[in-house]
Amino acid sequence: MQQDSLFHDIPPCSPNRQADVDRLAALKNQIRHHDYLYYVKDCPEISDGEYDRLFRELLDLELKYPDLITPDSPTQRVGAAPLDELGKVPHERPMLSLDSLMDSAEVLSFDQRMKRELETEQIEYTVEPKFDGLSVELVYDHGIFVRGATRGDGTTGEDVTINLRTIRALPLQLQTDSYPDHLVMRGEVYMRLSDFHALNRRMTEQGDDAFANPRNAAAGSLRQLDSHMTASRPLVVTCYEVMAMTGAHPPTHWDELERLAEWGLPVPSLRRRCETIDQVLAFHRETQEQRDHLPYEIDGVVVKVNRVDWQNRLGMKSRSPRWAVAFKFPPRKEITEIQDIAISVGRTGTLTPLALLIPVEVGGVTISRATLHNADEVARKDIRVGDTVRVERAGDVIPAIAERIPISGQVRPEPFLMPQHCPICGSAVAREGAYYYCTGQAACPAQLKGAIEHFASKTALNIDGLGKKTIAQLVDHGLVKDLSDLYRLNQQQLLTLEGFAERSSTLLLESIANSKTVPLERFLLGLGIRQIGQHIAKVLAREFGSLEAVMAADRNRFQTIREVGPEISESLVSYFQEQSNRRVIAQLQELGVSIIEPRLPQSHTPLPFSGKSFVFTGGLSSFSRDEARALVERLGALVSSSVSKKTTYVVAGSDAGSKLEQARKLAVQILDEEGFKNLINSSETL
Ligand code: IVH
Repeated sequence: MQQDSLFHDIPPCSPNRQADVDRLAALKNQIRHHDYLYYVKDCPEISDGEYDRLFRELLDLELKYPDLITPDSPTQRVGAAPLDELGKVPHERPMLSLDSLMDSAEVLSFDQRMKRELETEQIEYTVEPKFDGLSVELVYDHGIFVRGATRGDGTTGEDVTINLRTIRALPLQLQTDSYPDHLVMRGEVYMRLSDFHALNRRMTEQGDDAFANPRNAAAGSLRQLDSHMTASRPLVVTCYEVMAMTGAHPPTHWDELERLAEWGLPVPSLRRRCETIDQVLAFHRETQEQRDHLPYEIDGVVVKVNRVDWQNRLGMKSRSPRWAVAFKFPPRKEITEIQDIAISVGRTGTLTPLALLIPVEVGGVTISRATLHNADEVARKDIRVGDTVRVERAGDVIPAIAERIPISGQVRPEPFLMPQHCPICGSAVAREGAYYYCTGQAACPAQLKGAIEHFASKTALNIDGLGKKTIAQLVDHGLVKDLSDLYRLNQQQLLTLEGFAERSSTLLLESIANSKTVPLERFLLGLGIRQIGQHIAKVLAREFGSLEAVMAADRNRFQTIREVGPEISESLVSYFQEQSNRRVIAQLQELGVSIIEPRLPQSHTPLPFSGKSFVFTGGLSSFSRDEARALVERLGALVSSSVSKKTTYVVAGSDAGSKLEQARKLAVQILDEEGFKNLINSSETL
């Protein structure tokens, strides 16, 4: 079905309406195209800013003509009202699972079996990654995405249609007009590793529990009752199987994938046609080598007999097809023994128990230590020295102890207890919920080193060349006893350190000096206040506008901020109450650290243009369109691309077009460039 037929019940159009209708359809197509380039092809053609502008223009038009909002509009991906529970849907075709093969010998005998059953000497296979996510059924009717479900028990799944609609990689409408009337597919929903880590950082910053691995994160995000929540999670999807379709079925699996790609659907980009089973083994080997460098998790490759008529001839067993198998990678879980439990001290003083293991290879990497997170976790898993445990490594995630394996008759030592004194500096250890921390603060070399690393990191003060090793030297030689000492360093001192010469010390001093001018949010982040990550630092900077205002706030004031809960407020208040912290901040400022305050006024003070809306038309000589837009937005106005009765001002530059006419017709106030400048000047003095 073509785009225009979606508008069949629109009343006859006035010329202006017709122009908007055309623009709206064009915008939808453009945004869809850019979503496709960004999420499916992974090669965007426009900047995020340009994309946002198209999106806002579409939103504005839809606001003006609510009757033109169609379910396939890109704006309709934001989520719907929360559900009480996920409905159940029967699958059109059973959702089977795959038999797993663990080594080449098993793959060779699979190939022999296929050749015997098909009575042939040669079989072509398609091979592709086995994505480690959540399997879904996806249904398109007349090119429109109408239903999606989880696998469930293979016969009936959970209806997650509205949640799937929020995934931008999934087209709400298929491209070209060659798609079948009815298409049922199978695919995998998963999360890219970088997005998974960023999400976990966000969750922990907000005081929520982190997800154990990307698969759990994807499953938890897709099976939400509130689709707004799903919309905020960075899910992607890949389609890898046509389960049913009307019309002629492509002759091979390879052709199926090519057709799906033509229709704008995401398909595995890492796929290969193999004429021999040796080529299949080679693909498996090469893909396993790439595994740690891929942006997403995979746990093997899937081998499929390419010809669809042969697939049908081979048929299926009770739970799996005969024509496809999963050739798995070695597991990323292995069994080993705990030799000792050590304690590491982090930058905020948190004591983390670490299991020292008998080294073991997990998914190609030798593991000799694993985090035990905190004392509660050790108690919950009942982990003690000498225990046999299963260690797990997911992607580039730090290895963790998945579980203890009880050995009957084993005599075990007493349960593990956290120390009462810091193993690094001997200061007393205090407890906060499940966490224990060293009270030594900057007097504890471990904390001081961690604090400086954090302060100097890219997202904070960004001191180039101040790495872990140099920081350790500076602290161990007593040259830096708190953050402010960094700005007291001189060349003579640096030259006493191993590895420093004239040039390297000059460069380091230069980059320390360059860090002296710093935006407030980066400075707040750099202080290393417990629970204050990048996001909260930004929120605080915007909310308070100055360091003094943040330092003066009390618990109640912090808690008026939506993102700030009791734990974050507590952490902020206790940090700024501490005299030694206030002293270091004062000294940093005395030594020339200058904090740039955000230009935005506080969000709760009304802005001069709050509630006003602008439309720009034609060219301005003193500003670019973007500058003009940014200017009025900073003063609180909304900028729209089309004129309506609700528009406050139309700013008409040279060669103003139909928008100017429209403004006249609707009696909207029109400003020329001079008038616009006067308005800005008068509002900025308000
Ligand atoms: S084909 C009838 N292809 O692996 C065959 N499955 O136990 C249908 N999976 O839950 C599956 N990547 O969700 C196929 N490229 C791929 C896959 C894939 C991941 C999942 C699938 C299933 C599990 C098999």
